[in-house]
Amino acid sequence: MWKTAIEDAVAKTRRNIESFGDLFPHVGEGGGDYKLNPNTDWTDGFWSGMLWLCYEYTGEAVFRDAAVRTVESFRQRLAANTALDHHDIGFLYSLSSKAQWFIEKDEAARQLTLQAADVLMKRWRPQSQLIQAWGPEGDPANGGRIIIDCMMNLPLLYWAYQQTGDTRYRDVAVTHAEKSRRFLVRGDGSSYHTFYFDPETGDSLRGGTAQGYRDGSTWTRGQAWGVYGFALSYRYTGNAAFLDTAKRLARYFLERLPRDYVVYWDFDAPVDADTKRDSSASAITSAGILELLEHLPSNDPDRDFLENGLLRSMRGLIERYATIGEPDAQGLLKRGSYSVRGGASPDDFVIWGDYYYLEALMRMDRGLCGYWYE
Ligand code: GLY
Repeated sequence: MWKTAIEDAVAKTRRNIESFGDLFPHVGEGGGDYKLNPNTDWTDGFWSGMLWLCYEYTGEAVFRDAAVRTVESFRQRLAANTALDHHDIGFLYSLSSKAQWFIEKDEAARQLTLQAADVLMKRWRPQSQLIQAWGPEGDPANGGRIIIDCMMNLPLLYWAYQQTGDTRYRDVAVTHAEKSRRFLVRGDGSSYHTFYFDPETGDSLRGGTAQGYRDGSTWTRGQAWGVYGFALSYRYTGNAAFLDTAKRLARYFLERLPRDYVVYWDFDAPVDADTKRDSSASAITSAGILELLEHLPSNDPDRDFLENGLLRSMRGLIERYATIGEPDAQGLLKRGSYSVRGGASPDDFVIWGDYYYLEALMRMDRGLCGYWYE
């Protein structure tokens, strides 16, 4: 089953290289093809990551050539400082230049990735001791705001510490992860999408949401970012609290799978025939559970539950949401949602859903783990 899904994904990616040209896929529109952009969005690393995964899987030069072109584009983006004033630098450069370093030990790719880590460090706010997700420093709306998605940007900093021995990268990542664990994750294993702190004093103010159903709800994709992100923070730090947090988030997620095993967009949204899904949340969580399972002893009491949840989620995606057998489809997974709340591509292909689906498949089939750690 995994093999068929991978072959289909690789074939679509090969074909997309030509149709995308030097542009980057972002999200679909109206259930149709991807909107493309010239490397100006937070999502552009996912296409690069898919190309590197396909290259590692097939060894075909066509994938490497296209992937290297994306790295060049990311080099230009950094040099021109184009649309980098946010925390998603980790998504962008982990899957592009860091991937090239992992695969080829290309020194220029390593240097570019270290520069990217320095750009992410500019989001650190010493007074409130957090990485500001969005907006300029001092922004009244976002100045003291963290979001759970940032957990997936931290591996760039952990890696930069490993490479350079500069403890500033590690300290920022660990402090931010610990703050996220304390304030974004609730006692029952659910999560806030965002949390506000006083930017001057660092005092905790309140939880909230940007993309979820309501401030106190659990946005399924945020929960997914947490599963994978805390598992990776455990890998890099060995702090058992991060592993336990990843497990609790995963359990909460898997205990709420609907009948077809692919989640709706928010665990608290009322469900009727029109409720949107987020297939990308299921794909990210699957990839995150694969990471989590690597750290659990064989007799861990949660292992069976997590393994079953992983298989159900992946089967659900492959059997009902993947575009297998639809050769003209550009995307791999239907029914992702960018922002249901904001009315932006609520039922479409989303490139990060495709990336994590492919990463999970390749990890199960070939042990190819993506580019979050070396
Ligand atoms: N990190 C942005 C999103 O998940 O939509």
